[in-house]
Amino acid sequence: MSQELHRTDLAQVFSHQEILLTGANGFLGKVLLGLLLDRFPELKHLHILLRAGRSLPAEQRFQRETLTSPALAQVIERITQTRGSGFVRERITVWPGDIRQPHCGLSPAALDHLSGRLGAIINCAGLVEFFPPLDLAFASNVDGVENTAVLAERLGSKLLHVSTCYVCGAADGLIEETEPVLGYYPHRQGPEDKSFNCHDELAYCRERIGRVSGSARQIENAQTASRAALGGLRAVAAGERLRSREISQRLIALGRQRAEHWGWVNTYTYSKSLGEQVIASRPGLDYAIVRPAIVESALRFPFPGWIEGGRTAAPLVLIALGGLRDWPVRRDIPLEVVPVDLVAAAILVVAALLLEGRNQPVYQLGSADVNPLELEPLVRLLHAESRRRMRNQESEGNGRRKVSFAFLERLLGAGPAGRRRPRFLSAEQARARRVRLQQRIGRAETLINRTSKVLERAGLPGRQRLSAWSTTLRTLGLRSGFHEQTLDQYLPFVLHNRYIFESEHIREAYSLISEKDRLLLPWDPERIDWEDYWINHQIKGIETWVQPEAVKEWNFRI
Ligand SMILES: NC(=O)c1ccc[n+]([C@@H]2O[C@H](COP(=O)([O-])OP(=O)(O)OC[C@H]3O[C@@H](n4cnc5c(N)ncnc54)[C@H](OP(=O)(O)O)[C@@H]3O)[C@@H](O)[C@H]2O)c1
Repeated sequence: MSQELHRTDLAQVFSHQEILLTGANGFLGKVLLGLLLDRFPELKHLHILLRAGRSLPAEQRFQRETLTSPALAQVIERITQTRGSGFVRERITVWPGDIRQPHCGLSPAALDHLSGRLGAIINCAGLVEFFPPLDLAFASNVDGVENTAVLAERLGSKLLHVSTCYVCGAADGLIEETEPVLGYYPHRQGPEDKSFNCHDELAYCRERIGRVSGSARQIENAQTASRAALGGLRAVAAGERLRSREISQRLIALGRQRAEHWGWVNTYTYSKSLGEQVIASRPGLDYAIVRPAIVESALRFPFPGWIEGGRTAAPLVLIALGGLRDWPVRRDIPLEVVPVDLVAAAILVVAALLLEGRNQPVYQLGSADVNPLELEPLVRLLHAESRRRMRNQESEGNGRRKVSFAFLERLLGAGPAGRRRPRFLSAEQARARRVRLQQRIGRAETLINRTSKVLERAGLPGRQRLSAWSTTLRTLGLRSGFHEQTLDQYLPFVLHNRYIFESEHIREAYSLISEKDRLLLPWDPERIDWEDYWINHQIKGIETWVQPEAVKEWNFRI
């Protein structure tokens, strides 16, 4: 006799279980929070752990920053209309906290209140910078994870931790989600290779961090003292700044070196893997790890194209729209992008299965194993879009750039691709081209300076024009350096490694929930029309929501 499969009913699960969410003010956290409130308003109670702002206590920060964000504003308005103005106050409690501190900085009273109450903690907090100083990466992505795990154990709760698919490090091909977490490192030579132990690695790094901070401090204390003797308070303050910069640089280098040593592509993914291993090494902890690939603009929720922050693929898209011609990318690499609302939906489904004890330990959330978008068609699509926009601007009469700028760009071979096709290059070819361009710019600047001096000596006019050209050259040089820096950050994901993330577990998870819940929280990367997504969601979303100032200072996230 066939037994009917039990389907987890998410509304029922969430109406009986309290959840604590960290990282609710982040890009992913806000969409997750909005989706939970919108789809399951019957939820029992949600606890939010939030850091206080510089001048705002956590509760006020939540009211003023989180709830008013475009990601949430409409949801809150809808819910207030249907459920009354007290809904948010009754169902959500904000706790000031910081995952870097023991018990995530929760007060003894908060710990007492939460003890035995929580079904699960969803840890969406993390530091998402590629190359931060190692101590900072550890504070949020390793110690913070450990503190969250200890908190879960202390409160009698389960833990859903958000990691990243890129913990796999340097790789080529299908990345399985069944690879054991503990003892993993990218250069591993098979299951018998026991060279990596996360606790030994952490102890080693902590000792190195202590030494770097200590010795740099000693040297610079001495320098500060001599500066103080010579130059008073201002010199001391300058010395302090120099000291922290110096220590940061050394800790950035240390993180890069440890990651490279074991085969991770940056400090971020190395620290995220250590965070996973810290969880997996706690035998008493009931957990699920969710690993999204690259999280990008929303497909449907809160509305198509919602994106936040100047990181993710935003810099690449903006450079492409500016007409970049030379692309150091491998044509056959799929860019593993997943819309943020699909990621949030999948996390809620995994949370419900975890609460019911029906989960897998690891879920990868990729798109390329069912619907790959390779870089060649993506670059061509961005290139065609850039041309279309330039044509439109020209026909509207506002696409014309300064004649001197366009002339110099053409002369130096630094102009936008325009009608010409994009070129796919190796890293070496791209670097050689950039070096040649910088040399041409340098030579042109020397020529202009010399000519300017000759004109000055001869008392002839024209120096003003030359000075404008010189400024244009500097701008071209800066732009080329900026492109180089940006593209270099992406090389592990677009040139050096070819990733396809197996995402079988999440498909299996969706087969365990009801049809109604599948419609409420769609996970359907196989149905995404990438061309439409990139033009109408991604590009428009970046142009609308990513502020140019943020792009200037971006950190790259994966
Ligand atoms: N974005 C992606 O493409 C991507 C891809 C794969 C995985 N992920 C993972 O998804 C998670 C969320 O990423 P995101 O893109 O939403 O990043 P995000 O926008 O930078 O948000 C990170 C959140 O974490 C919080 N946080 C950081 N350190 C904290 C601490 N010590 N205590 C409490 N809260 C802290 C931040 O709080 P504040 O507001 O107080 O700073 C912020 O709300 C991260 O774990 C990340 O590794 C992201």
